[in-house]
Amino acid sequence: MSAFIGSGRRIHIQEVGLRDGLQAECRFVPTADKIALADTLADAGLAKIEASSFVSPKAVPVLADAAEVFAGIARRPGVVLSALVPNLRGAERAVAAGVDEMNLVMSASESHNLSNLRMTRAASFAGLADVAALARRHGIRVNVSLSCSFGCPMEGDVAQQQVLDWCARFVDDVNVQGITLCDTTGMAYPTQVRALTEAVRARWPGIELTLHFHNTRGMGLANVLAAIDAGAERFDASLGGIGGCPYAPGATGNVCTEEVVHALELMGYDTGVDLALLLRAAMRLQELVGHDVPSQIVKAGRRLDLHPRPSAQAVA
Ligand code: COA
Ligand code: ZN
Repeated sequence: MSAFIGSGRRIHIQEVGLRDGLQAECRFVPTADKIALADTLADAGLAKIEASSFVSPKAVPVLADAAEVFAGIARRPGVVLSALVPNLRGAERAVAAGVDEMNLVMSASESHNLSNLRMTRAASFAGLADVAALARRHGIRVNVSLSCSFGCPMEGDVAQQQVLDWCARFVDDVNVQGITLCDTTGMAYPTQVRALTEAVRARWPGIELTLHFHNTRGMGLANVLAAIDAGAERFDASLGGIGGCPYAPGATGNVCTEEVVHALELMGYDTGVDLALLLRAAMRLQELVGHDVPSQIVKAGRRLDLHPRPSAQAVA
């Protein structure tokens, strides 16, 4: 099936603006505003929200209030609240905060893992296996996000086989329920995305697969469409298009939630997301972070947000 014919097919958009988005900001957004934003995003129909990170508060001070954020968000059926977890210490905090899902993180590239998590991939993997066991004991879902799955800003290309080998270890040895292939610094391109997505879908059809793109080189939406063509139906996206890993050189924002929803709905896909409400939330986000956001839809409006015609006098 072509990605250009939606035919009402459901595509799941997962909001990461409160985590990937805010981790890239210098300004600390007050906890109450983070909570209100999460509640609005749930009102808008986003069924999975990564609300914060249980990483070291020294590494990412702007997300140091993760526990308070989780305590404040209204829980509602059908909305999964997820959090990024890098190690056992983070997992213990995530259990105490009552997260619905732990999003484990490590990189497919050794250099980025050392830079981001200050340990080797082997050390990360060993720790994350313990994290998954802890999560299971508490009935918490486990997803793993593999950073730099489409390229590393320090090493260059990351071989597809290397990514598949890490996926295999997480699926077979750790029993994760979901895998997210992350394009941490916007190095992915559509034909590459298609090949990796097809390979993962074919080998692990029962795994919940998410694609996580950054628009660093303008290929974000093209990559989303290529992944849909290859059978993917879940995507991370960030309100306003903010975001980026503070420990990856050259990182910039995620694919923008309202741009992805706008495009996919026009093409006949069903995202279940209220675009008007999302746009109001993106306007509010600009105030919270104190600068314009990359979103083209915030700047230009929706395709059919029309402008007044020139008056007869002005034409004459
Ligand atoms: N939550 C809270 N505190 C944590 C923690 C966690 N998940 N992990 C470690 N710490 C604390 C330790 O208790 C210790 O505290 P102390 O200095 O008061 O004794 C301190 O942090 C150092 O611990 P250590 O195990 O030596 O960790 P580190 O300094 O090597 O950092 C990570 C390792 C993984 C915790 C850190 O690099 C990290 O959080 N990275 C995440 C970066 C990130 O979020 N990137 C963007 C998302 S992809
Ligand atoms: Zn990211």
